[in-house]
Amino acid sequence: MIVLGLETSCDETSAAVVADGRTVLSNIIHSQSVHHRFGGVVPELASREHIRRIIPIMDEALAAAGLTLDDIDGYAATFGPGLVGALLVGLSFAKALAYGSDKPFYAVNHLEGHIAANRLAHPDLGESFVTLLVSGGHTMLIDVNGFGDYRVLGKTVDDAAGEAFDKVAKLLGLGYPGGAAIDRLAQDGNPSYVRFPRAIPDPKRLVFSYSGLKTAVGLHLKGYSADEMAVHRADIAASFQEAAVDMLCDKSLRALEVTGKKILALSGGVAANSRLRFKLDEACRRIGARLIVPPPELCTDNAAMIAAAGYYHLVRGEQSPFTVNAVPYQKLG
Ligand code: KG4
Ligand code: ZN
Repeated sequence: MIVLGLETSCDETSAAVVADGRTVLSNIIHSQSVHHRFGGVVPELASREHIRRIIPIMDEALAAAGLTLDDIDGYAATFGPGLVGALLVGLSFAKALAYGSDKPFYAVNHLEGHIAANRLAHPDLGESFVTLLVSGGHTMLIDVNGFGDYRVLGKTVDDAAGEAFDKVAKLLGLGYPGGAAIDRLAQDGNPSYVRFPRAIPDPKRLVFSYSGLKTAVGLHLKGYSADEMAVHRADIAASFQEAAVDMLCDKSLRALEVTGKKILALSGGVAANSRLRFKLDEACRRIGARLIVPPPELCTDNAAMIAAAGYYHLVRGEQSPFTVNAVPYQKLG
């Protein structure tokens, strides 16, 4: 079954063609640059940019796969969570394509899409694992027991990890979004330069908190002259990253312990972070567990993961009605 997936939940316009939920025939991702000068995503500009780009991006995805719309067996698009205007573009477009060609359509939960990225990258993954989903909007640990069977073990009580990366990047003058820039800069920095606090909002629960860390970096930088800032920018980036990563590692290991699972699957944009991958891999090996990580292009928002998630529903004969609407605060499950 060949599924065409569309992803427009935030500031990436993406179209992908995936065969049988596991072979990526194409995955075209257009990251909107229109937001950069505003230091964050401007929802209305995102919607307009999606409208402008959705057809050329889909055409590019079909051409890269060497297929035409006639070859598509089903359609999948993100319906939430995300920005409502942005979601509506991909969702409406996919519904129209499916309706016009009398092909099945499935509205995909963006979070389930991120989880499906691991199945795409590792077809041997199996049904039982723990996922750490870390993105610009979400920081959650999920106990997965088969496709569609998710139990949220815990999430952030305030900011998402990616949000903290982006806010600290802004403080360091690295632009938006800044997660990848911090990752790069931190490679030249000393992670022990400042010991920023590792927040433990509730030691017994698998919850995260990132707003304190972001504030701690902001307060620390207040005492800096321009020269000190120039000299120590990489050290601050590395010290912040170390604290952010330690918090994710600590709770992820706890999640493996409480579920008794031996596989930890990473997903979401922050999963592209090299230090997180390194430290989690080391920690998993120590306890005899295995870390599964999708390649970076399947970690950040992309339509291949949406097509893969859609496939698992469509292949079971599940379809969404054309009345399905965008749901900005859609939960998992
Ligand atoms: O999954 P995603 O593309 O969009 C959401 O669903 O939010 O995640 C985007 C987030 C941004 O906060 C971005 O700064 C962060 O992922 N990110 C990273 C890295 N690459 C992207 N954070 C840390 N290190 C990276 N290498
Ligand atoms: Zn995402």
